[in-house]
Parts: sequence; C-alpha cells; structure tokens
Amino acid sequence: MSVRVIIGAQWGDEGKGKIVDLLSNRSSWVVRYQGGANAGHTLKFDGKTIVLHLIPSGIFHENTKCVIANGVVIDPEKLLQELENVRAHGATPEGRLFISSTAHVIFPFHKQLDLAKESQLTDKIGTTGRGIGPAYMLKIARMGIRMMDLLDENVLREKVTQNVVYANSLLENLYDEKPLDVESNVSAMQAYAAQLSPFICNTAALLHDALDRNETIMLEGAQGALLDIDHGTYPFVTSSSPTSGGACTGSGIPPTRIEKVMGITKAYCTRVGNGPFPTELFDETGEELRSRGGEFGATTGRPRRCGWLDLVALRYACRINGVNELALTKIDVLNDMEEIKVCTAYKVNGEETLEFPLSINTFDHIEPVYRTFKGWKSYDSNPENRADLPETMQTYLAFIEEYLNVSVVILSTGPGRTETMELQEL
Ligand code: GDP
Ligand code: IMO
Ligand code: MG
Repeated sequence: MSVRVIIGAQWGDEGKGKIVDLLSNRSSWVVRYQGGANAGHTLKFDGKTIVLHLIPSGIFHENTKCVIANGVVIDPEKLLQELENVRAHGATPEGRLFISSTAHVIFPFHKQLDLAKESQLTDKIGTTGRGIGPAYMLKIARMGIRMMDLLDENVLREKVTQNVVYANSLLENLYDEKPLDVESNVSAMQAYAAQLSPFICNTAALLHDALDRNETIMLEGAQGALLDIDHGTYPFVTSSSPTSGGACTGSGIPPTRIEKVMGITKAYCTRVGNGPFPTELFDETGEELRSRGGEFGATTGRPRRCGWLDLVALRYACRINGVNELALTKIDVLNDMEEIKVCTAYKVNGEETLEFPLSINTFDHIEPVYRTFKGWKSYDSNPENRADLPETMQTYLAFIEEYLNVSVVILSTGPGRTETMELQEL
C-alpha cells in the first residue's frame, strides 16, 4: 500500500486529524493538499490536545515527513504561530516539513475581503473569515501571490501592487472601507518569508522521488466532500476541492498512484456555518449530540449544528470520492441512547429518492426517511474483536456497510489516539 487519501465524507470536522495522526506512524509522508487555516484538525495523545490548521497531522511522528502542498492557501502569520505551537509540544519541523513554492499566500487583505463580502450578504455562507474564498478567487484569476514570490523583493512588490489596486477598488467602492498600502504588505510578508524560507521547496518533485522509492504517502484532506466547490451544497461550500480528485491537483501526485481512499464520517452529522442539512435536529436530541460530542468548531469555536447520520449524503460522498474504506468516528457519542436513527432516503415532493440534490432549492423540500436502530450501553474498554462489540452496535455497523457497500475499517470510540479499534489490517 503506498498512497492513501483521507477525506472528510460529510461537512468537515469528522475526525480527520485524529485518524491521520493515528495512521502516520505507518506513513513516510503526510501531505495537506487543499484548504488553508479554515481547517481545524484536533489531535489528542499523551494528555495533550493540539489543534492544527495548516501543518499536516503527521507532525508529531518523528520519522514522518510533512508537506504543505501546492493546493493549500497559506497564511504565513498563522503558519509561524502554529510552528511555535508544535515545537512547544515537542515536534521538530526542521528538515521534516516542506512547503510548496507554488502554494498561494493569504495576506491580511484576503481576510478583510472575506469578512467584508460576508457582511454584505443577506444569505451568509458563514465562512471562517480566514480569507479562503478571496485567495482562491485571485488564484483562479491568475493574480495570486505564491510562496516563491515572497523570496524575490521585486516580484513581490510588483504582485502586491497589482493585488492592492484590485483589493482597493473593492474595499473603497463596494465595501466602503479604507484602502490598503503596498509597502506595509510587502514588509510584513518579507519578515515572514525570512523565517519560512528554509521550508520552501518543490514539493511535487519530492513526492515523485518518494513514489519512485515506493514510500508510503498519506494525503490529508481538509473540510469535507459536501463542502467541495464543485460537488458540495453550492454556494454554501468552501472554495477548494476537498474530494479525492483535489488530492491529485493539490499535490502533483497522479491519479494512477492512488490506491486507497478512506472516507471519515461521524456516526451522526454536524455542520458549522450555513447551508442545507437535511437531517438537522432542532430538538433536545440535537442538543444532546452537541454537548456529548463537544460539537464546537476547532477553528472558530462556533457551535456545530447536529443531526442524525445521513446515508444518502454519505453514499454520494463515497461515490464522488471513490471511497473504498471507511473510518467511523464518535460512535461513543451515541452510547446509552435508547434509539439511533439513520436517514436512508429523501422524500422530495412525496417521492423517495437516493439521489443527493444538486439544486440548493430542492433541499427545502426534503423530508428525510429514517430507519431506527436499538441503541447500546457504554462499555469500559474496546474489545479485541468486532464480534465482541455490543450486538446492537454490530447490527448498526453492518447496515451502514451494506448500504454503502464499503467496509468500516476503523472505529473511533473516543478522541484519544488509543481510543480506536482497527477492524481490518491497514
Ligand atoms: P477534523 O477537522 O476532521 O480533524 O475534526 P475536528 O478536530 O475539527 O473535530 C473532531 C472532534 O471530535 C475533535 O474534538 C476530536 O478530538 C473529537 N473526536 C475525534 N474522534 C472522536 C471519537 O471517536 N469520539 C469522540 N468523543 N471525539 C472524537
Ligand atoms: P476541517 O478541515 C467544518 C465551512 C465554514 C463555512 C464554509 C466556507 O476542520 O474539517 P470558508 O472559510 O472555507 O470559506 O467557509 O466552510 N468550513 C468548515 N467546516 N470544518 C472545516 O474544516 C471547515 N472549513 C470551512 O464553516 O460554512
Ligand atoms: Mg475541524
């Protein structure tokens, strides 16, 4: 097994960080391929809790190299803070962390534009305010500033000037805000670049050499399939491609080298920010899931919306990503519930369908069709074998696997690295 993509199969926060950290000791490389500091990936081990936003979740495994690849949008200030944080927790990024010279840079004005746009929307997306949309917008407009540009003062000044002219036209005319100046943007970035330059390199070439040596590579997705710019609940999505296809463009690893796509899903659903959520619960069960699951955003601290597991949405996510193994997380949050529901179909205008809608308007007319399962009691420690799990939990797992035609290979029973059952050899 040499290349595995780990993707969020819902609306993000499925526990990707925990699973990537868990599997990193078997991987020579861990690669973030899209998104930016909108991500918040939580790791829990040795009594520590660490939230990573840009640095790959393999950073605490000394023998694993970490890459922030070309598809990521990097906020240098945030990255430097994060480097301090991981060092303080015992990691040594020097010589082990590689940052793509072609990754795009997030400046403070991207964040300003992000917030200004949100403030004018009636139907707000609920972005994280981390400048993600504007950074990808300017990348696609071929005006983006890349990590390599920070290392050349003339290029940097020229590109910042072009960006500032554009940003000012929006800030002054559309958003009624003060204009930016070029020099403060150039000097701030130069200071960051001086500290980051030892890490900046051609990461695609490094990964190709690693592929030639048959080394194990894990690609770490951020966000989730239903937040994908193409396949998610547009426009309530992020501005990148978290799906497995994005792993190729975002890293330079070709599709022919990807063998496994692991979908991470909670045993229920959450969503932070606005947009469709067919199985959302507005009653005390939703509240119970939120408080038991500690469902508050790892990046913004916002309460996450909660609801039952949606198999229609999950099947869609499995199909567009080519998921061939599943990690089911937060099963412990359902412990001691009398009844557990899963959505098995959508009723749209009286007709049942398994198809995930493409139009945002259709979501207003969805009535989820539920199947109810008997719950299970909590238990002290994970059994050696799947057959020794509570019978009702086994029934629940088997139903999900059969519905999706994918095996659950990891069962996560708590936030800690060791609170995990590997149901198959990985
Ligand atoms: P990510 O963005 O996909 O990496 O997920 P987040 O870190 O944003 O959110 C997942 C939250 O659930 C974090 O607080 C994790 O520590 C926690 N978590 C992960 N797996 C489990 C699990 O199996 N059980 C419980 N109770 N918490 C978990
Ligand atoms: P991880 O990697 C959950 C959501 C935001 C908002 C939408 C667009 O931790 O799973 P953006 O700032 O990206 O322009 O916001 O996407 N969002 C996330 N939700 N987990 C994330 O990342 C998210 N990153 C962005 O809440 O609804
Ligand atoms: Mg998260």
